[in-house]
Amino acid sequence: GEAGRDVLVLLGGAGDLALRMLLPSLYFLEVDRLLPRDLRIFGVARGELDGAGYRKLVREHLGKRANVEEAAWERLAARLDYLSIDITKEEGAKALADKIGGHDQLTVFFAVSPSLYPSACQALQAAGLTGPSTRLVLEKPIGRDLESSKATNAAVGAVVDESQIFRIDHYLGKETVQNLTALRFANVLFEPLWDNKSIDHVQITIAETEKVGDRWPYYDEYGALRDMLQNHLLQLLCLVAMEAPSGFDPDAVRDEKVKVLRSLRPFTKDNVAHDTVRGQYVAGVVEGTARAGYAEEVGQPSKTETFVAMKVAIDNWRWAGVPFFLRTGKNLPDRRTQIVVQFKPVPHNIFGQVTQGEMQANRLVIDLQPEEDISLSVMTKRPGLSEEGMRLQSLPLSLNMAAPGARRRIAYEKLLLDAFRGDRTLFVRRDEVEAAWRFVDGVAKAWAEAGIEPATYAAGTWGPPSAASLIAPQGRGWKS
Ligand code: BG6
Repeated sequence: GEAGRDVLVLLGGAGDLALRMLLPSLYFLEVDRLLPRDLRIFGVARGELDGAGYRKLVREHLGKRANVEEAAWERLAARLDYLSIDITKEEGAKALADKIGGHDQLTVFFAVSPSLYPSACQALQAAGLTGPSTRLVLEKPIGRDLESSKATNAAVGAVVDESQIFRIDHYLGKETVQNLTALRFANVLFEPLWDNKSIDHVQITIAETEKVGDRWPYYDEYGALRDMLQNHLLQLLCLVAMEAPSGFDPDAVRDEKVKVLRSLRPFTKDNVAHDTVRGQYVAGVVEGTARAGYAEEVGQPSKTETFVAMKVAIDNWRWAGVPFFLRTGKNLPDRRTQIVVQFKPVPHNIFGQVTQGEMQANRLVIDLQPEEDISLSVMTKRPGLSEEGMRLQSLPLSLNMAAPGARRRIAYEKLLLDAFRGDRTLFVRRDEVEAAWRFVDGVAKAWAEAGIEPATYAAGTWGPPSAASLIAPQGRGWKS
């Protein structure tokens, strides 16, 4: 090929992910002039469309989320083309190879159903598109359990090397998630306290106000455990719990994350009822609007959970005895992604007149969504004089991460840019995916053996009541 010719192929180019997330991300990268200079982009799908029709479709979707700058759009449109093929067939992949012609770097983004990954990989290989300059970017879910994820990984691994595979967990592209790593490893303040001597427990919440709705055919097979916990929640847990990597590079970081995944204590049929919560929403009200129950959305009774919470133990020296409470669900009262690091109380209270209630242990709260901030609560003297002597209060040391007036970036902007640059640090390695599935399979098996089915919760509440009792012993509670 000619020098400097980059090509991006979007498989599933007319689908929901491509139109709602990937093309807008490419547009914003274009606005900031961050795309590789000669990049050409091909949307690929089976639907009959031509280049002009595709550009029109992309433009319409863009208009839904941004005030489109014409100049940037023109630049993006000039890169964009469309090809109507079946990518799971060799003829399809050959037509694609003909269309893109010479290239230096080929990035293929799989925004199609994961069930097509193996056949698409084979077709790409048959068409000569899986050489050393190819990178494959794979969306989740990679499998539905350990066995099927191994099969998918093996099928992809049969056509390219692991170093050419970029498995997406879009949470890793979020600004504040990267900030967590900066906070931990670019400061001396936190790391000496980051263990079971100083930390009482950690909470990680990904709460969504969204219903499952039209996505039920996918969701009903996966549920909250496989859709959210296997990937996003466990990735956040890894970033909180991992040891310091020797450098911010792909294998150093991923080596440390996989050690955490392997240290997760497996659930058994004897503790799973006590230490996990499975929920499914029934009709209720979220943010003032009525929501149907999950079974109504599916059209029949279902045993899939739309809420999961659990108390996870990490069996290593650093975290022995420190529970990690994880929870996620649909149709919850607030959209909130938050990590709470709850420190232990001071060992001895020298302020005799200060009540237990006034004396609050330090807490670090990292908010990822809807706002991005980091806040550390510290005890201070309450201003002024008092007859009872010194009074205390807890105040936040607070960092608002949003630059004033700045647009919040789509996580895919960062990830696409890293894929173009070949940086795998924020992508998930094969052994990580498999270690996460091993843990999740253990939960599913324990649920099955203990006969645990989802408990109901009304849409617009924080899951079944057992979610509150899960964390309640020892005076703990979910941060409200
Ligand atoms: C996806 C899940 O991976 O993440 C969805 O499949 C979920 O069910 C989504 O809604 C949440 O992502 P975000 O970025 O909106 O928090």
